Amino acid sequence: MKVMISLLALTVSAGLAKADPVKDIDARAAATVSAMTPDERLQVLHGPMALPIFGSKVPEGAVPGAGFIPGVKRLGVPNMTESDASLGVAWVGGLRGDGATALPSGMALGATWNPDILRAGGATIGAEARAKGFNILLAGGSNLIREPRGGRTFEYLSEDPLLTGILVGASIDGIQSNHIVSTIKHFALNGQESGRKFDDVKISDAAARESDLLAFEIGIETGHPGSVMCSYNLVNGVKACGNDYLLNKVLKQDWGYKGWVMSDWGALDGVANALNGLDQESGDQLDRQLYFGKPLAELAAKDPKVAARVSDMATRIVRSLYAVGADANPAAKTPIDLKANAQAAERAEKEGIVLLRNVDKALPLAATAKKIVVIGGYADTGVLSGAGSSQVQGEGGPALLLSNGGAGPFAALMGEAYQRSIPLDAIRAQAKGAKVVYRNGRYITDAVEAAKTADVVIIFATQWSTEGLDLPDLSLPRGQDALIDAVASANPKTIVVLESGSPVVMPWLAKTAAVVEAWYPGIRGGQAIASVLFGETTPSGRLPVTFPASVDQLPRPKVDGSDLEPDFGGETGGTVVPVNYDIEGSDVGYRWFARTHATPLFPFGFGLSYTEFKREGLKIEVKGGVVTARASLQNIGSRPGADVAQVYLTNMAGKPTERLVGFAKVDLAPGETKEVTMTLDPRLLANWSGKDWAVSGGLYSFALGANAAELQAPVSVKIAPRHLKP
Ligand code: GLC
Repeated sequence: MKVMISLLALTVSAGLAKADPVKDIDARAAATVSAMTPDERLQVLHGPMALPIFGSKVPEGAVPGAGFIPGVKRLGVPNMTESDASLGVAWVGGLRGDGATALPSGMALGATWNPDILRAGGATIGAEARAKGFNILLAGGSNLIREPRGGRTFEYLSEDPLLTGILVGASIDGIQSNHIVSTIKHFALNGQESGRKFDDVKISDAAARESDLLAFEIGIETGHPGSVMCSYNLVNGVKACGNDYLLNKVLKQDWGYKGWVMSDWGALDGVANALNGLDQESGDQLDRQLYFGKPLAELAAKDPKVAARVSDMATRIVRSLYAVGADANPAAKTPIDLKANAQAAERAEKEGIVLLRNVDKALPLAATAKKIVVIGGYADTGVLSGAGSSQVQGEGGPALLLSNGGAGPFAALMGEAYQRSIPLDAIRAQAKGAKVVYRNGRYITDAVEAAKTADVVIIFATQWSTEGLDLPDLSLPRGQDALIDAVASANPKTIVVLESGSPVVMPWLAKTAAVVEAWYPGIRGGQAIASVLFGETTPSGRLPVTFPASVDQLPRPKVDGSDLEPDFGGETGGTVVPVNYDIEGSDVGYRWFARTHATPLFPFGFGLSYTEFKREGLKIEVKGGVVTARASLQNIGSRPGADVAQVYLTNMAGKPTERLVGFAKVDLAPGETKEVTMTLDPRLLANWSGKDWAVSGGLYSFALGANAAELQAPVSVKIAPRHLKP
């Protein structure tokens, strides 16, 4: 009998277990929202920035941070406590006083080409957000780098939709593994900071779908973000946060997105945004008025269609909270092991550092170097971090905060902040027995004098950038180009370490022995840089963005709107700034260089190693509509290393093109060979037809690349025409 009962129990539980979890979440969310009163439904649709600035107070129950939206306690809907951002729990000028793990910048994360690194980094910062009481992390920055001078280039991952989508999806997945919601942002086409609230991006539907929107589509498919943050800019004349094409047609109808769209802070232009797809008003004290309060309530009271829309808005929010388990696993303050967590930041930076030049194996530094001179970049103090809402600082805040002057509420946020990781100390720890001297580089004569007597010179150069403002060009500021030129002229064994948010031009390049791009290196950046310089780590980063030889090579040699002297907040005094992305269309970055046959300083995907690799045997197989690429990578050098197989589409049914269609990073011991297999996303073999993805059919050519500019002989296959639903 007992056996019978247990079998029965088993069957029943198995039957219950078979309930579709997704359907269950939908049903639960719908039931919760229908049990809400009209006021409760409205309550979850807006909330203030929870910081004591601009005359605001921190609301009751809020953790000081980007935002707070009260939940519905009686129905188990948790308060929504929001923090920025993609690189860790934001410092917000020290208002909370608690530090967090600062991952290296998005450019460094993008340069890893390794989703595992992004997932681990996301898991780490998501855990810290939760441990600080936040259940929403405003992360997932995934705008394509169309404008390398963009002030937020440092925050984003790459210029390519596949690389960006795969990496941001992994980061979001890591964050949400902590039962908190991650956003993906800024939707969409927010490609520059100058005049960001007034830029009106002109772009065709096809070009948008094949580039920026594809990055979001892949990121949403692979990361399942609970929320999408719409952006400040206009797209084809309509604000992104009230854009029916972006929010309803593309995101919710074509892609079937079931989460919620939150606005950027102060990004609404009216209550009609709700009817055009926006679900939640963020930072509501920054809007001209509170739209998703009384004005929306009045519309809903008179119009059942609006009332139904309000229920849909609330349901999307509640559904996402259920989907990550934020209701059943409430975020609560718990201790954080910052030391342990810093390992994730260090590992990411080690894999994100890109070796750009290495003449006569100047690197890794030999232990024989007796006198090392380290110059500039505040390398005796800290490592540079990008400014704006995404800025993270460790315990105790920045090691150094240089004011950039200016007054107004953003002045503090606009400082040039260095995180507490000291490259000079890390170099000294690695350079056993050598004499390591530091010169601050303020005077060229002083730096040159010191350089003359050195066995090797390591010169650090910094390029600060911030949300809200774009860079005027890609040169190194504060006369660093002249400093590097003079030092490298005085000592050819000069190694340049760049701490930059964006690509930089390098007029001194030919005079240097080696160049390392360390980006904004994060809370263990000094240690990671020294580990690479001394060969403890073999560099494996590959550029996630093209380094132009000159801004004249770009689709827009001058940043539109930059002459309007917009302030930090992207205000232009109301002047709308047309920005024409149809110049390049979906040919962003390396695709533009391929189309214009321009030669960049360093191409997308470029990166050297301390060992050598052989990449060969590309095979393309078409079976049942699925296209698979295979190749083998071999380490033919004497050091362990990691290589990235890059497969590019080079011809599409007779039309020359260049699109990254697959990549895979592998660790290889000396002599080791590994085969990599990549299933190609069919959308990358197609063009947007206006209603679906059309693979025109014919002969398609693919090539294995060391980077976007060094491609092997192509392999061609016939691919049948087909149409893919969006
Ligand atoms: C900012 C940023 C956005 C951030 C938000 C909250 O303006 O554009 O990325 O999440 O406001 O700080």
